Amino acid sequence: MLKGKNILLGITGSIAAYKSLFLIRLLVKEGANVKVLLTPSAKEFVTPLTVSTLSQNPVYADFYNLETGEWNSHVELGLWADMMLIAPVTASTLSKMAYGAADNLLITTYLSARCPVFFAPAMDLDMYKHPSTIANISSLERFGNIFIKPTSGDLASGLVGEGRMAEPEEIIDILRKYKNSGALSGKKVMVSAGPTYEKLDPVRFIGNFSSGLMGIELAKEAEALGAEVTLVCGPTHLEMPEHIQVISVVSAEEMAKACFEHYKEADIAIMAAAVADYTVKEKSNTKIKKKANSLSLTLIPTTDILFEMGKRKKNNQFLVGFALETENELENAEKKRIEKNADMIVLNSLNTPGAGFSKPTNQVVMLTKNGEQVSTQLKNKKEIAKEIWQTVVNLVK
Ligand code: CTP
Repeated sequence: MLKGKNILLGITGSIAAYKSLFLIRLLVKEGANVKVLLTPSAKEFVTPLTVSTLSQNPVYADFYNLETGEWNSHVELGLWADMMLIAPVTASTLSKMAYGAADNLLITTYLSARCPVFFAPAMDLDMYKHPSTIANISSLERFGNIFIKPTSGDLASGLVGEGRMAEPEEIIDILRKYKNSGALSGKKVMVSAGPTYEKLDPVRFIGNFSSGLMGIELAKEAEALGAEVTLVCGPTHLEMPEHIQVISVVSAEEMAKACFEHYKEADIAIMAAAVADYTVKEKSNTKIKKKANSLSLTLIPTTDILFEMGKRKKNNQFLVGFALETENELENAEKKRIEKNADMIVLNSLNTPGAGFSKPTNQVVMLTKNGEQVSTQLKNKKEIAKEIWQTVVNLVK
């Protein structure tokens, strides 16, 4: 369950910080991407070098990198995370989280994070039992954060009692089993992704450069937000996400059939696939032989899947299309949204360097049926997927 998840681990100044090093190792072993935030006092307990080596990522501790003058964006880090885990969390950090006392990078990031936040306290037994600690823990639970209860045993003070941070294996188990009650829980989502291949003969096809990455990230993000997801995906070399129902298709016709089938049950559908507009009229069963001069092929239109889904759309369904334009982009995209009866269209521009087809990054403008335009920066497609879902979630609320 944690494979490919972006996990932000916050470590605070407690003797239990040594256990966080094991946590990092276990998370990396699970296949998670781990970034670590240290509070100023955490650096007294674990070194940034150890943490960075284990997590295979830079460590974040200060608002600024004084050497380069760069700002460590807590907003970017908060958006990057699929899950935030603060372990160990001291009584001091607990109170800062409860009151929003944003005097270090960990707290500012906590306040910016939109993902589920887990916290595993570690402190002496009397501190743990103090009414202020109890009140702070219940405030965090009221905010929707997930409390990982400390265990009883020998404490660093020499006393024996409740206050030991939960063991790393136990924490990992809680993260693994966490079933998101996120913004899309209870919703059925269908996403189309990738190119289609239109066969000419047994060895050739007409295709396009779509990698499928945008649609795959959209499907993964929907799953992270608690949706039951079906991904209808054209031919791609990318790894298919786990825990998501994947219907692999090749041609536009196969994609249409699978989409229509699964759209019936869907609450939300996002059509990110680059579907061929034309297919070959007569496919050859044998390899087309080289001819002396030119070769002509007759192409016939495929079904416009989004258009057809727009026609079939029920009142409780929300339909999102993509538009790839090279000229009069906004105007053409809005025209497409109206023609295809989509509730929102995501405009990809081929004119923006780094955005669009077969690139890891994208920059989009979302045009909604309420006449709003929501633009993103150029970001990796995972981040773009998060922004698209935020906009959709706000519209379907
Ligand atoms: N689409 C579809 N079925 C097709 C063609 C496109 O469902 N046969 C969907 C795409 O998945 C996308 C949207 O329609 O969500 C717009 O695709 P795009 O290629 O930008 O536009 P087209 O409708 O194909 O028009 P044109 O190529 O003329 O711009």
